[in-house]
Amino acid sequence: MAKNYVIARNLDLYYRKIMNICCIGAGYVGGPTMAMIASKCPDIQVAVVDINQERINAWNSANLPIYEPGLDEIVSEARGKNLFFSTEVDRYILESEIIFISVNTPTKEYGSGLGQAADLRYVESCARRIAEISKSPKIIVEKSTVPVRTAQMVKTILASTSHQFQHQIVSNPEFLAEGTAVKDLLSPDRVLIGGDLTPEGQIAVGKVSSIYENWIKKDRIITTNLWSSELSKLTANAFLAQRISSINAISALCEETEANVDEVAQAIGADSRIGPKFLKSSIGFGGSCFQKDILNLCYLCRYFRLPEVAEYWEQVIRMNEYQKERFVRRILDSMFNTVSGKRIAILGYAFKKDTNDARESPAIGICKRLLEEKAHLAIYDPKVSRQTILNSLGIKEDQANSIDFCKSATEACQDSHCIAILTEWDEFKNIDYEDIYKNMVKPAILFDGRNLLDIEMIRLIGFVAKGIGIS
Ligand code: UDX
Ligand code: ADP
Repeated sequence: MAKNYVIARNLDLYYRKIMNICCIGAGYVGGPTMAMIASKCPDIQVAVVDINQERINAWNSANLPIYEPGLDEIVSEARGKNLFFSTEVDRYILESEIIFISVNTPTKEYGSGLGQAADLRYVESCARRIAEISKSPKIIVEKSTVPVRTAQMVKTILASTSHQFQHQIVSNPEFLAEGTAVKDLLSPDRVLIGGDLTPEGQIAVGKVSSIYENWIKKDRIITTNLWSSELSKLTANAFLAQRISSINAISALCEETEANVDEVAQAIGADSRIGPKFLKSSIGFGGSCFQKDILNLCYLCRYFRLPEVAEYWEQVIRMNEYQKERFVRRILDSMFNTVSGKRIAILGYAFKKDTNDARESPAIGICKRLLEEKAHLAIYDPKVSRQTILNSLGIKEDQANSIDFCKSATEACQDSHCIAILTEWDEFKNIDYEDIYKNMVKPAILFDGRNLLDIEMIRLIGFVAKGIGIS
């Protein structure tokens, strides 16, 4: 492998410099990743293409379609110079030497693999389009999270549709986390690039690597075979989610035993074998990746007749569901078992702070349950739009009688019976809770679903206050 890589790198010297690359899919991954490449590689012309005209218009405007700290600056610096956003998918496929595929791979909502397998129809349609129209050999880079051996599917499509050229498939999963995308892209823990072990495959790996080498040290770039790269992405997300479910499981026990989950996390995280990150107990993990990737992993395990392995990972998701339901249960218990007609202020709807993304946000399940219990919700999130909230709840605009969309936390809390903090936005730390308390129905209840506040201080104000894993 190492030998092949060296040969490939030497051969690469004979190749011309990469000039044009494109990325199909202008989403949370494609947009920021390509913006960073454009910003760090002035010699590379980067095009981000998407079939969604509205999204492309937004990328070309002052109001980017996604919120990420630091992204506006990077985009506005490179846009129009070597960074272009366009709906001309075919044009940029034709012009590019390297094509990143960064389209959505949601969990299948129909047919075989329903609710578990990844829906690869968007990846497949990109592969077919590239095969149909290309007039030169391409390096096709899988950026979207895909199940292991997706590259085989792409290869088969390319081989059967495009007889003229031998395209190369490279896996280069993205590990950025939303809310810290710019920082993660600027100095990633590692860049992973998987390719075929043939000389041509290794040339392709070398070319993709040479893009990142513009700003990332080579010892941070890991090269593997295609399948290890694909599986590593699913495994990384499964391990991260597993840590959250593990600490959340302990939080339930803490609530019964007067232990404090944050203290337990600190104590165990000090062990260098465990480490301090990803031990923050919460109402559960959300986001577009964790649940989808674990379901996907489980589907693969069952497909390869490994039911015990599938069951092991499924438990991580079951614990996540349990954590959300437990949160709602505790709210009900504190409010005399009924929230019917009571105003509950929902502070935060995004799946984590510093993003406008609410995909799989734990807030969705919690709000749905509270609405089922006939609560009146007053929702405030600094970045998530009203439309995104309504869509995620499956509620039409004219049926949103039980929801107030508020412009500030103070407005949401006014006259409420209970406050539920569902996202750890920094601004919620600096609210004047004494003032808020005065304007609430008594007993004023506060549930901190992110353990963001000093709960003892909140109790001193007069609130009946509860955190996660704190009795
Ligand atoms: C994740 C992975 O971190 C990233 O490497 C991968 O590329 C995509 O999936 P993302 O989903 O954007 O990134 O955010 P992340 O920071 O991992 O948070 C996921 C969820 O876990 C959030 O809902 C967050 O609030 C929750 N979380 C995270 C916790 O509840 N506790 C923690 O300690 C950490
Ligand atoms: P992620 O979080 O993985 O970036 P998103 O859903 O935010 O996922 O973005 C994926 C993007 O891919 C969407 O904007 C969607 O319109 C785009 N897309 C899906 N299929 C195609 C396709 N065949 N050609 C171009 N763009 C596509």
